[in-house]
Amino acid sequence: MAELEIKNLHKKFGKTKVLKGIDFSLEKGEVVSIIGSSGSGKTTLLRCINFLEIADEGEIKVDGNTIFKSGENITSKKMQEMQLLFGMVFQNFNLFPQYTVLENIMLAPKLHAKQKYKNDFKMKKEAVENIRQQALTLLERVGLTDKKDNYPCQLSGGQQQRVAIARALALNPKILCFDEPTSALDPELTGEVLNVIRGLKNSDTTMIVVTHEMEFAKEVSDKIIFMADGIIAEEGTPSQLMDNPKTERLINFLQK
Ligand SMILES: Nc1ncnc2c1ncn2[C@@H]1O[C@H](COP(=O)(O)OP(=O)(O)OP(=O)(O)O)[C@@H](O)[C@H]1O
Ligand SMILES: [Mg+2]
Repeated sequence: MAELEIKNLHKKFGKTKVLKGIDFSLEKGEVVSIIGSSGSGKTTLLRCINFLEIADEGEIKVDGNTIFKSGENITSKKMQEMQLLFGMVFQNFNLFPQYTVLENIMLAPKLHAKQKYKNDFKMKKEAVENIRQQALTLLERVGLTDKKDNYPCQLSGGQQQRVAIARALALNPKILCFDEPTSALDPELTGEVLNVIRGLKNSDTTMIVVTHEMEFAKEVSDKIIFMADGIIAEEGTPSQLMDNPKTERLINFLQK
């Protein structure tokens, strides 16, 4: 059974139709890369999947359960539950500048523990200690243990992005989404972030990666989706898409 299933997703802003019926599915542990020219709707698709935007039409299923269907009311509790299924890593890292690296990673899980244990101080204290241990493990995983007490402004772009990845993992999302995770980085810092993503693939994390790094997409993806003008214009394995593009649009895109 597919871990994620997207059906007929539509989204418009005012009169501009940005997504015009997107369908795809992902198995557990699969990596899909989304490529396509600027304005084709890649970010909007990720934002709809993460519920940072609400699609106008369509359905989203996780493990066979419908978690979103247009026309059905969404309570804020349900919205929070749905958001927890997905993690998002943004182009510009979006770390909280006033918090240290460790605090950035612990913040969201701590808020959840606070909500969950309300006045049970003993449980809360225990939970926070677990969250701290998990955050340290995540920092080790992205190779930044020695930066735990630094502030984001004291880190390179590549280091900041690795913290952002650890932060996204801290809530144990089922599916991790990346929106051009290396496009704000100098070329020499790109490799360290791509390496972390390679490591996640090896540990079976399901991922959706919007990227302009074609070689990386080819290497790391099980499937590539080419978006054009709000639709999926072509979809297939890396070699199907990159070595044998069928549509004129993709051929032109790959030449650029
Ligand atoms: N909040 C919004 N309000 C109005 N229009 C929007 C909004 N978000 C996106 N758009 C429009 O939707 C279209 C698709 O934008 P989107 O950011 O999804 O493209 P993209 O494929 O991610 O492009 P890029 O490669 O430049 O990041 C664009 O025309 C954009 O101007
Ligand atoms: Mg974008």
